[in-house]
Amino acid sequence: MIPYVISNVGMTLDGKLATIENDSRISGENDLKRVHEIRKDVDAIMVGIGTVLKDDPRLTVHKINASPKDNPLRIVVDSNLKVPLNARVLNKDAKTVIATTTPISDEKEEKIRKLKEMGIMVLQAGVQKVDLRKIMNEIYKMGINKILLEGGGTLNWGMFKENLINEVRVYIAPKVFGGANSPTYVDGKGFKNVEECTKLELKNYYPLDDGIVLEYRVIGSFK
Ligand SMILES: NC(=O)c1ccc[n+]([C@@H]2O[C@H](COP(=O)([O-])OP(=O)(O)OC[C@H]3O[C@@H](n4cnc5c(N)ncnc54)[C@H](OP(=O)(O)O)[C@@H]3O)[C@@H](O)[C@H]2O)c1
Repeated sequence: MIPYVISNVGMTLDGKLATIENDSRISGENDLKRVHEIRKDVDAIMVGIGTVLKDDPRLTVHKINASPKDNPLRIVVDSNLKVPLNARVLNKDAKTVIATTTPISDEKEEKIRKLKEMGIMVLQAGVQKVDLRKIMNEIYKMGINKILLEGGGTLNWGMFKENLINEVRVYIAPKVFGGANSPTYVDGKGFKNVEECTKLELKNYYPLDDGIVLEYRVIGSFK
């Protein structure tokens, strides 16, 4: 068994998550509140190491009325344990799991020891990259039933490719960032053809701030 996963992003009309200089100010006040309502509702929030290194997010519930016990578990997918020990995602505001790969080096062993000293749990699965399905299975065994996947584009691809996403919620801002190298909602290698791509069913949509929110159910990808 694996947890139910909601993928949420704020993106521009051209599907960008940030500009080429990593300016990711896309959402307005109401959209940020919407995201924090979802955070409050889920058991865990998941991001890739790229997002931690670029944005240093806290991944807590702080834009709406909430108490510390509303903070979900934080999961960072990080094959090579690049997470800085002073990253905000490792602070005491909530529990954190680092999902990494199985190969071990002296350096990695030392980092795991330091992380454990800080109360951070480390899960290992996969060799080159984190085996996301195995991690989902481990996380489910820890009692985590619902996860909010908050990006970025590379991890979103990994999760779509493995068919691990159940629901999509996107805020689309009326902006165009452009840039072939700026991060998009789903990056990675991409599907080769329409047959194998992820199919979605539109369930709901509504205007918010100066943009629009779209909510989809994932029908699946057929590989
Ligand atoms: N607008 C929004 O809603 C929003 C939300 C989040 C992020 N962002 C933006 O997105 C950008 C960061 O995205 P990103 O693509 O650079 O990084 P990312 O998706 O946050 O992290 C990707 C990294 O995760 C690691 N990883 C390990 N196993 C993986 C697997 N099986 N599949 C996929 N990834 C795996 C890889 O690094 P290792 O090989 O080192 O492990 C990979 O490079 C930033 O610009 C940020 O501002 C925007």
